[in-house]
Amino acid sequence: MKSGVSPQTAAARLKRFSRLRPTLAIVLGSGFQHVLTALRVDRKIFCARIPGFPVPTVSGHAGELVFGHLGDTPVLVLSGRAHFYEGHPMERVTFPVRALAAFGIRDLLLASAAGGINQKFRPGDFMVLTDHINWMGTNPLRGPSVSGLNRFVDLTDIYDKGLRALLVRAGKACGLRLYQGVYVAVSGPSYETPAEIRAFARLGADAVGMSTVPEAIAARQYGLNVAGISCITNPAAGRGKGPLSHGEVLKTAKKVELLAVELLKNFTDLYGKTDRAWRRQTETAAC
Ligand code: HPA
Repeated sequence: MKSGVSPQTAAARLKRFSRLRPTLAIVLGSGFQHVLTALRVDRKIFCARIPGFPVPTVSGHAGELVFGHLGDTPVLVLSGRAHFYEGHPMERVTFPVRALAAFGIRDLLLASAAGGINQKFRPGDFMVLTDHINWMGTNPLRGPSVSGLNRFVDLTDIYDKGLRALLVRAGKACGLRLYQGVYVAVSGPSYETPAEIRAFARLGADAVGMSTVPEAIAARQYGLNVAGISCITNPAAGRGKGPLSHGEVLKTAKKVELLAVELLKNFTDLYGKTDRAWRRQTETAAC
């Protein structure tokens, strides 16, 4: 690792911050920061204080790691993420996920903003990721082989069916427009051209964004179950009327922030029940 810090070192530091041992972690991107207001916080740490963690520089990304409860469910929330377009190498972009895996996280929800390619999508809709297309021009697992880790990771079912089903149920419970579809990841930071968006549509993409995919791939290398949810903040280039801007992304995100909170709160409630059920089953089996 170039930073010289191992995920285990970061995980050991995290364990000293809080006694909570959540099995679920959530990465909050643009559009989901308001979820923090619904958290019962146990401990909050700036990413800069965790060895190896990159510090996000994008507006709307707090750069904090929070231990807490959403409803009754313990969660580890990474508020804000570092993007490839900020100039971080992939190993740094994915470092938090690898540290979370070393900490003992089992399930990971990646929340982000995305542009709508599918013509049915409107700003303020949400999309559960069923699959992705990696158009970032690189792969986060590229590099020397790491002992004990599979280099040739299978991505056939990268987004876990069980977690996806929970997201769909969570969305139905709050009556929002929740689609399922394919996310294409680009490196950014420029937005796409209309020709690129038409090409992505032909390739089968429903939404486009600049995150999620590196973290999802890294998480699968560690065997985490991954789910992805995107807030459709704008029509992708050439799909809407005006030019695109980060301001528009933040404006739509603000409009639906309460829905985003409700969606994730419902999700963690459902997850908590499932998780407890799993634990009970394991305990019963052990008796
Ligand atoms: N393109 C890429 N990333 C994005 C977009 C977009 O239109 N909207 C939000 N993130």
